Amino acid sequence: MTDSNPDIKLSSIVCIAKNNAIGKDNAMIWHIPEDLKHFKRTTLGKPIIMGRKSYEALGKALPGRANIIISRSYDALPEGEPTQVFKDMEAEGDEINSGTSTHKVQSIEDAIKLAKAIAQKDGQDEIFITGGGQIYAETLPITERLYVTILDREYDADTFFPQINWDEWDIKEQRPHPAENEKDRPSCTFYTLERKAS
Ligand SMILES: NC(=O)c1ccc[n+]([C@@H]2O[C@H](COP(=O)([O-])OP(=O)(O)OC[C@H]3O[C@@H](n4cnc5c(N)ncnc54)[C@H](OP(=O)(O)O)[C@@H]3O)[C@@H](O)[C@H]2O)c1
Repeated sequence: MTDSNPDIKLSSIVCIAKNNAIGKDNAMIWHIPEDLKHFKRTTLGKPIIMGRKSYEALGKALPGRANIIISRSYDALPEGEPTQVFKDMEAEGDEINSGTSTHKVQSIEDAIKLAKAIAQKDGQDEIFITGGGQIYAETLPITERLYVTILDREYDADTFFPQINWDEWDIKEQRPHPAENEKDRPSCTFYTLERKAS
């Protein structure tokens, strides 16, 4: 993959369980408001790239961001009933609808090219991969920064994040967060990882 603008960083942001689980039945398995806040704070104003299934799981474009949806096969961008995750992200207040846009592309290369063009126009220095399993797996080898929240328990799942090779990454930040309950709000740690220079 050629890099259309190397000054704009390609980041991924994800929340994973101890066993790398990220989703089941095309939905999130847990509900961690602190992680949703972290996601919103980190990505707001910056282009986000996601697979068609993750977009359908959200039900709606995330506000205040260019939403770039990758699909080989479908024409329309369906707007569904927003999920609880989406509503929680919205419920944090802020007038953030400006800058919301939705774009469909047919390849990861086109998604990155478009996201970088939008970021450059908006004076941003970072674009995000926001899932799901297929898109994380296809882009992890070229991801430069990884924001990963790791939950301190395992979950039954059908979608997983690829195994992280910790030797490839420098830990820039590490912030533990206590459990709020045992079922779907376990303790977790927020990491920011930067790919080591090769
Ligand atoms: N824990 C987290 O942080 C997190 C974050 C995001 C999502 N998730 C979870 O992840 C799950 C969804 O992940 P998923 O792996 O099933 O699906 P996905 O990666 O969201 O989307 C897969 C779809 O993207 C398109 N696609 C993938 N690679 C492509 C390529 N190279 N070129 C063109 N199009 C491509 C295809 O769409 P078409 O079939 O339309 O061609 C494919 O079916 C859900 O459970 C969701 O809740 C978790």
